[in-house]
Amino acid sequence: MTTPQTTPGDIREPRLARDGVNRIEWAAREMPVIGLIRERFRREQPLRGVRIGACLHVTTETANLMLALKDGGADVALCASNPLSTQDDVAAALVHEYGIATWAIKGEDNDTYWKHINAVLDTRPQLTMDDGCDLVALLHKERRDLLPVIKGGTEETTTGVIRLRGMMKDGALTYPIVAVNEADTKHMFDNRYGTGQSTLDGITRATNVLWAAKTVVVAGYGWCGRGFASRARGLGAQVIVTEVEPVRALEAVMDGFRVLPMASAATQGDIFVTLTGDVNVIDRQHLEAMKDGAIIANSGHFNDEINIKALEAMAEGKREIRPFVEEYKLGDGRKIHLLGEGRLINLAAAEGHPASVMDMSFANQALSVEYLVMNEGKIAVGVYDVPKEIDREIAALKLSSMGVAIDVLTPEQEAYLSSWESGT
Ligand code: ADE
Repeated sequence: MTTPQTTPGDIREPRLARDGVNRIEWAAREMPVIGLIRERFRREQPLRGVRIGACLHVTTETANLMLALKDGGADVALCASNPLSTQDDVAAALVHEYGIATWAIKGEDNDTYWKHINAVLDTRPQLTMDDGCDLVALLHKERRDLLPVIKGGTEETTTGVIRLRGMMKDGALTYPIVAVNEADTKHMFDNRYGTGQSTLDGITRATNVLWAAKTVVVAGYGWCGRGFASRARGLGAQVIVTEVEPVRALEAVMDGFRVLPMASAATQGDIFVTLTGDVNVIDRQHLEAMKDGAIIANSGHFNDEINIKALEAMAEGKREIRPFVEEYKLGDGRKIHLLGEGRLINLAAAEGHPASVMDMSFANQALSVEYLVMNEGKIAVGVYDVPKEIDREIAALKLSSMGVAIDVLTPEQEAYLSSWESGT
């Protein structure tokens, strides 16, 4: 017998809720910082009565963030920030075990995806929490009647921050948003070690390939590309990096990677991974140059980094040869394998970043939301960095949870650092 649904939402299967609870509790073990924030929120109720509309990947880690916000007194409504990233057991647990309104089904079509974002907006949130800016963009394009209620928001990811800055430049943004991605305790860890590991995990689970001796082409050498390139090398792959930004390309060269234009890399790679945040980074001419059997995947936010339309047009046929692996047969007999429909492979075929890094990303989310509530009405429209004190507090809490102690400046050192008198 299934439990009747009293919390609003749209999920795949209520019977998955128990599995969801177990996995959410398992993730909590690796999220001590969120755990501490949750305890304090429970005592202090800093978010009492605040309605939060969140559009995030619905994972065990996100569930722990939602629970912290709820325990802080917030009314939370959640939907997926990608059609393929939802963990259905987590969505079931949120609705049926924790009473958190959740609209998210793994594999939902685009119409359902937008219907779910609209359902969250229907709860008339006062704060938005977005991952990729789809919720905020929809709000500004089609649900403008809700804007007067909104006091602020947060954004999780690089792509979302880029879109927000575009909105700001066009004068389209109407409320202040904290760019969580810009915190050091977010991008230096989540983007680098999280994406690095979870992308390898997603591709490995989807394909079971041996990385050793493969030629792996990494498109983009931002924090995510750096992390993935170093992990692929760690497993014995020969890594080629492609870049458009000279300083990053130089860094990749000095980190010991080969750097090539995609047109040259295309002929050499066995596995291609895009982590750029840009469009058609693997384009038709690159697909035309690839070796038979090439594997292509994306770990950037949107599924437009690979020109899938061109691949479809070039193909005579396709079949799903394994879950998350689509084999395209081209006119000249070559086969190209596209993973996870070109969507974030780490969340489509694996579980996203491990809890230990999401602990810091989501601590930034929780504390930024508290900061917005505490400073309501005092922050002008704009895109803001996470306050440095929050960033440092999270790093200190994480270190202490790991049992790592560090030095403190002596008074003499403090004075030295703030003086210009001493020199040679
Ligand atoms: N983004 C990447 N990994 C994630 C995770 N595990 N949970 C939520 N968002 C993510």
